[in-house]
Amino acid sequence: MIPVDRAWFATTLVAWQRQHGRHGLPWQWTRDPYRVWLSEVMLQQTQVATVLGYFGRFLEHFATVRELADAPQAQVFALWSGLGYYSRAKNLHACAQMIRDQHGGEFPQTQAQLQELPGIGPSTAAAIASFCFSQRASIFDGNVKRVLARVTAFDGDVSQASAARPLNGIAQDWVLGVANDADMPHYTQGLMDLGATVCTARNPSCASCPIQMRCEANARSQQTQFPVKRAKIKRSAEHWRIVVFARRTSGGVVEFWLTQRPPTGIWASLFTPSVELISTECFESKQGAAADFGEPLSAFNHVLTHKDLHLEPWLRVLRATDGLPSDTGRWYASTQLSNVGLPKAIKTILDDALKRINSPPG
Ligand code: ADE
Repeated sequence: MIPVDRAWFATTLVAWQRQHGRHGLPWQWTRDPYRVWLSEVMLQQTQVATVLGYFGRFLEHFATVRELADAPQAQVFALWSGLGYYSRAKNLHACAQMIRDQHGGEFPQTQAQLQELPGIGPSTAAAIASFCFSQRASIFDGNVKRVLARVTAFDGDVSQASAARPLNGIAQDWVLGVANDADMPHYTQGLMDLGATVCTARNPSCASCPIQMRCEANARSQQTQFPVKRAKIKRSAEHWRIVVFARRTSGGVVEFWLTQRPPTGIWASLFTPSVELISTECFESKQGAAADFGEPLSAFNHVLTHKDLHLEPWLRVLRATDGLPSDTGRWYASTQLSNVGLPKAIKTILDDALKRINSPPG
């Protein structure tokens, strides 16, 4: 086993980050915890390239955590629309309100206090504490698990919290090797950057890695055998029929009938057309013989973390004399959809429906 000195690791990583790490991201090199928190929550399950557009737009609407806290939930959801994992938007809003109401509008400064807030786990708390307040707290996200598991050839299953605990211990110990508090933002960013650009899951670029000569997995030529992930997430599948009720107003605007979903479960609190679960684990279309769902739109699969959704959308255009499609919901103008919190898959379906209405086939 190659011994790794934590001071050497930290100094090497910080120097590498200064020279080779990422520097141009809009949430970097600010110590404003509002910006760092917002970016970290957006980046929890979403790629940097996607987050870039959302991050700027959020700041244009809410320049401070107080403005976000004071905003109606519907506006926060509308701005989040398309980023996925909507519980993040809900927690983001709840967190902003807690900071306004219980912390005088200022973010707390320690990892322990930060992780008490909704939507902030230990790793996100460490990111905020180290980037903004130079605290010696180590992030422990997928990138860090991969880097440290390779350097130390850690053979525990990192997909299980209890098995990953010793590796987290290493992460929290090595952070003490950082020479100066002021280097903490570079250390944290260096871990993220090394994992994202060099020590990648597949085909790591070991030749350009500053840690290579002390990396046990590299010494054994077993880079891709680490980190060990034995537990597989259980996936399931469901088949959903989505009937898009639409109408054209006397002014010529197309409107869609949308209903808010319950506050828990898939697409919690977001707006959708009429959704009906047809079956689980079944991808064959079962079209009810007698029921009139309208005309079929393109069906597609939508992948969630633990579930594949097979979506079967239909379009039903109502006339002025028809009654309302259901007891709950209301009409939304197709021109105003950017103000409504829609799941990305639903946005795709409504765009398709609108195209169909405006240029019917044949
Ligand atoms: N992923 C999570 N946090 C990040 C950050 N600050 N920069 C780049 N990618 C990240």
